[in-house]
Amino acid sequence: MHLKTPTPADVAGKTVLLRVDYNVPLEEKNGLRVVVDDRRIRASLPTVQFLQENDAKIVLISHLGRPETGSDNRFSLAPVAAHLNEALGFPVNFVPDVVGPAARDAVNALQPGQVLILQNLRFHPGEKNNDPYFAQELASLADIYINDAFSAAHRAHASTVGVAAHLPAFAGFSLQEEVNHLSSLMDNPARPLIIVLGGAKISDKVGAAEHLSKIADLVLIGGAVANNFIKAEGIEVHKSYLEDSPADSSKEGVDYIEFARRLIEAHKTEKVLKDGYIPLPKILYPVDVLAAPDKEASDPATVTTIDISAGPPDTANDQNLAYLDIGPNTIKLYSELLANAGTIFWNGPMGVWENGLFAAGTRAVAQAIAQNPNTTIVGGGDTIAAIDHCGLSGSFKYVSIAGGAALDFLSGKMLPGIEPLIVEP
Ligand code: 3PG
Repeated sequence: MHLKTPTPADVAGKTVLLRVDYNVPLEEKNGLRVVVDDRRIRASLPTVQFLQENDAKIVLISHLGRPETGSDNRFSLAPVAAHLNEALGFPVNFVPDVVGPAARDAVNALQPGQVLILQNLRFHPGEKNNDPYFAQELASLADIYINDAFSAAHRAHASTVGVAAHLPAFAGFSLQEEVNHLSSLMDNPARPLIIVLGGAKISDKVGAAEHLSKIADLVLIGGAVANNFIKAEGIEVHKSYLEDSPADSSKEGVDYIEFARRLIEAHKTEKVLKDGYIPLPKILYPVDVLAAPDKEASDPATVTTIDISAGPPDTANDQNLAYLDIGPNTIKLYSELLANAGTIFWNGPMGVWENGLFAAGTRAVAQAIAQNPNTTIVGGGDTIAAIDHCGLSGSFKYVSIAGGAALDFLSGKMLPGIEPLIVEP
């Protein structure tokens, strides 16, 4: 995939509408909302600096959160502007307006190299509907458009798709970097390619699991996602978190247990790692799990190891248990396999790592991946929080700052926000 990135001549002296993804976590501290993870903000700075060096006038546009109706101060981009100015020492002027006279006046007053940031795009109803008038109004603020928001590229919104019809459109450097790293997983990766999928929700990962399982040599499943696979094999998961439990069995028309069964079945007879040590089914789920009556458990005596490979546990006591982490044999198996991978992609923790009693699986998998000297890519908000917690964030080849967009991209789909940025090689 070849993306059209801007040259100095494309941007020199121009007013640039720069779509970034500043949808970052905020927390209330001393009565102020402050940014608690600025990775996405820092990722946009190389493109901003390139524009400044070439005397462009820069108009940053972003969404933040999912405000339901119009302006809602909890979702204002003002704390992000403050973070840029104060924590990062990066001068920007904040305009509490999306389009309209205040925004237009501020844009007209910009000098070469100056940066302003408009208010949350989602305060305008035209953003999510990809309203053509809103897209045109946004586009009329600038001479060219650069999209540096890979993590929002799965949304067909006015700022990711609509504006590109009105202005010369380019890919920013952070977007390009995400596309290159994620594409490298699908285009001729060093083998064995191991995909590690965990986290709570299988619904987010269906497309990526399906597509990547065709490309990968092994798929290691953990977290609550594993419960769908365990259940698909006829083993009870009792009180475990399970998307698609009988009560909510056809969310979006997909039966996720049936999906897991199909995936296991489709890859059952493939014997992977042919040149390696053990032939294995391609889709692996935990052989054992840590279980407890409650994910808030604080007494280690309430935690039990259940041997999944032994078949369904069925004592009355088991019925009160939820599976909350992968067990020691699974840790050993996954760690050994990961040590020999040529390429690894990891999305989703192995258990409820926020509780120290159930953090061992996630920590062990993070360490095994961090120790692998080959291409290791991790992504997703929860996974990033977990590797931060383990002090390992600097130990991977690439940390993707995209969540849903990366999973959609890895499901083999063309993302609507990427399409206008592609050029023929
Ligand atoms: C994300 O955090 O994944 C992106 O910013 C997209 O946000 P959204 O899911 O609210 O569209």
